Amino acid sequence: MEEPEGAGANRQATTRRSYVLRQGRLSPAQQRYREQMMPEIGIPYAPRLLDFEQVFGRRAPRIVEIGFGMGETSAAVAAAHPENDYLGIEVHTPGVGNLCKLIAGMDLHNLRIIQHDAVEVVRDMLAPASLAGIHIFFPDPWPKRRHHKRRLLQAPFVALLAERLQAAGYLHCATDWEDYAEQMLTVLGAEPLLENTRANGVALCAQRPQTKFEQRGRRLGYEVRDLVFRRRSKLIEAEDDRQDQLA
Ligand SMILES: C[S@@+](CC[C@H](N)C(=O)[O-])C[C@H]1O[C@@H](n2cnc3c(N)ncnc32)[C@H](O)[C@@H]1O
Repeated sequence: MEEPEGAGANRQATTRRSYVLRQGRLSPAQQRYREQMMPEIGIPYAPRLLDFEQVFGRRAPRIVEIGFGMGETSAAVAAAHPENDYLGIEVHTPGVGNLCKLIAGMDLHNLRIIQHDAVEVVRDMLAPASLAGIHIFFPDPWPKRRHHKRRLLQAPFVALLAERLQAAGYLHCATDWEDYAEQMLTVLGAEPLLENTRANGVALCAQRPQTKFEQRGRRLGYEVRDLVFRRRSKLIEAEDDRQDQLA
C-alpha cells in the first residue's frame, strides 16, 4: 500500500482528537438522507490516497472543508462554484445527514463527504501538492487552557495542510474566539510553506457565506476573524522574507 509523504512525521498529530463525539439528535430526515445518499456520495476512510479524478469523473480544482458542521456553507459554496470539486470532512452524524439532504435538494454533483477524523484523512488520503484550497471555518476553540492541545490548528497539522496545498493554493480559517485567532496567526505565520495574504494579519469580513455557528456567535456580539494564507511557490521565497526581516 502506498504511504503518503509526511505520514510518519505527522502521526503525532492524531494522538489528541480535536473533537468529542456527542450523540446529538439525528432527525428522521437526516437519518433517511444519510442512509440513502452516503453509499453514493460518501467516501469511506481508508489509509490510501484518494483518486479525485475517479471520484468526480473529471479533473478540476479540489477544495477540502474540515469540520463542516451542518453543511450549509459547504452546499452554498459548492453550488456557487460548479467549476470546482469539494470534499467535506466531518465526524458529527447529524451534520453529515443534513449535508446529504442539502446535496440531494440542491442536486449538487461536485461535493463529496468523508465522515472521519480530518487529521487522519488529510494525513492518509490526500496527496502532497494536490489541493487548490482548504476551508476551516469555526473549529472548536477549546477555550480552557488545559484543553488548548486539542485545538485542530497545531504546528504539525498546519505543516501537513501546507504540504497538501499546491503552489499558490490557499488555507482559509475563521474563528470568533480572539485567543484562538491569535494562536492561528502565530502557528500559520511560523509555517515556512505559507504566507499571509493580509497585511494586517486578519480580516474582519470575508468573502464566504456565513455559517450557522457564526450567525449565533455574531448575535452574541462575537467578532469574527478570517485568516487567509497561501502556499508559497518556492521555499526560497520564505528564506528571502526571513532575510528581509533580519536586515
Ligand atoms: C464549532 S463547529 C463549526 C461547524 C461549521 N464549520 C460552522 O461554522 O457552522 C466545529 C465542527 O468541526 C468538527 N470537527 C472538529 N474536529 C474535527 C476533526 N478532527 N475531523 C472532522 N471534524 C471535526 C466538529 O464535529 C464540529 O462539527
